[in-house]
Amino acid sequence: MTDARVAVHTEATIDRIAPEVHGHFAEHLGRCIYGGIWHADSADQDGFREDTLSLLNDLELPVLRWPGGCFADDYHWEDGIGPQEDRPRRRNLFWAQGPEEIPEESNAFGSDEFLELCERIGTEPYLAANVGSGDPQEAANWVEYCNYEGDTELADRRRENGREESYGVKYWGLGNENWGCGGRMTPEQYAREYRRYATYVGTMDNLLVEEDLELIACGFEGHEWNRRFMEEVAGAPWGTEFPLDHLTLHHYYGQTMTVSEADKDQYDTFLADALETEQHIDRIAAAINAVATTRDIGVIIDEWGSWHPEATADNGLEQPGTVLDALSAGAVLDIFNDNSDVVTMTNIAQTVNVLQCLVETDEDDAWARPTYHVFDLYAPHKGNEAVQTSVTTPARELDDDRELPLVGSSASVGADETYVTLTNLDCRDSHAVEIGLEGPTPSEADVTGTVLFAGQEPDMEVTANNADEFGPEDLAVSVDGDGTLTTELPPSTVAAISIR
Ligand code: AHR
Repeated sequence: MTDARVAVHTEATIDRIAPEVHGHFAEHLGRCIYGGIWHADSADQDGFREDTLSLLNDLELPVLRWPGGCFADDYHWEDGIGPQEDRPRRRNLFWAQGPEEIPEESNAFGSDEFLELCERIGTEPYLAANVGSGDPQEAANWVEYCNYEGDTELADRRRENGREESYGVKYWGLGNENWGCGGRMTPEQYAREYRRYATYVGTMDNLLVEEDLELIACGFEGHEWNRRFMEEVAGAPWGTEFPLDHLTLHHYYGQTMTVSEADKDQYDTFLADALETEQHIDRIAAAINAVATTRDIGVIIDEWGSWHPEATADNGLEQPGTVLDALSAGAVLDIFNDNSDVVTMTNIAQTVNVLQCLVETDEDDAWARPTYHVFDLYAPHKGNEAVQTSVTTPARELDDDRELPLVGSSASVGADETYVTLTNLDCRDSHAVEIGLEGPTPSEADVTGTVLFAGQEPDMEVTANNADEFGPEDLAVSVDGDGTLTTELPPSTVAAISIR
């Protein structure tokens, strides 16, 4: 007896799923860069950690945001270029970092190292320029250093530093959380700053660099802020033709619960908080569309994921990597697919060792966390056309009057397959799910099922020793004569079904 049903409307396309929706974020914070990506002491070796890079390479990250976070608005990019021995040592105003957890920045890892990292792992860079304590000229100079092919002092400095041709950086963020650590600005104040920065950075787009630069402004989870920002930014003579390609917000959840101490009711609340990502997408898109009536401005969620009480500034925002967190990632990736008509990029926080990282390291090893396997499982969606699904599912009433839908799904159509992902957010029980697809009737041979975390408790934590226990397993899927698929999802699992 099935108790959940997913109808996949293969003809009802939503939009292409931008590969950048599977993007990542790395900040100079804790052991993300120093110790995680870059050897903390790289004096006698190539600075990059090959074990981390190999895991990131396999995952085919589409885009990586850097250098922050709050760090971005206190970072002056010229500190991080040129001979290592000449680079100034600075405070890190917001975060202790590196294995010694000191609030200082050696600048050993700077723009050329980051851009080399991106090339080594085949990912598109997304640079966040300093608005909080910088100026528009510094930001425009950064674009020139990275991308200009001509004969200027800055382009020559790049060449002297070993890089002849342009890096071709396309994504430029102007500030980070400028309502908070990026200058505590009102929306009107940030909009005015944004316009100044966008004038200088955006003009390079037409004249000096070949790439179509995409400019990204920071929004907020309080959506009145976004509406006021949009109105003010459009209030200059440019009107709605201002240079703004994407508006972002950040959505973290999990502050209410230490996973190892929580009960299953708290798991439900955590998962319902993760599902609220969809309301934020709807509301920021509404704020954009109310003003930009003649323009397409994308929604980016350039920091998202779990943030539990264990992750504090003192420990470099480290928290255990659990099955429960990975389950929430599956549910959120389904939301991004369903909103592919507005979501142009997302960046889970943070790539290595920090918050809901995908890769964890110690001095000797690097290993994949459960969330890594969810990204891997969802990878076939990248670049596909998302299609609508109707999900009929049992739901659980929560104490705060919300409901947690227990089974979730999204689907996409590619060149030669329909790809359906499923989550069982019920940490207590299995659910039998029936999947009906519009279109030709598949045979059993066309269908493959994969499941993650079957038989594992939600609070199970990954370590260097058990990391190989979280990988994919086969999922039994039966196909009826009329083409209906049926499968059983064990508690707290993420699954995918490919129909060729
Ligand atoms: O990801 C950690 C911090 O969270 C970032 O620096 C900041 O942007 C956000 O508040």
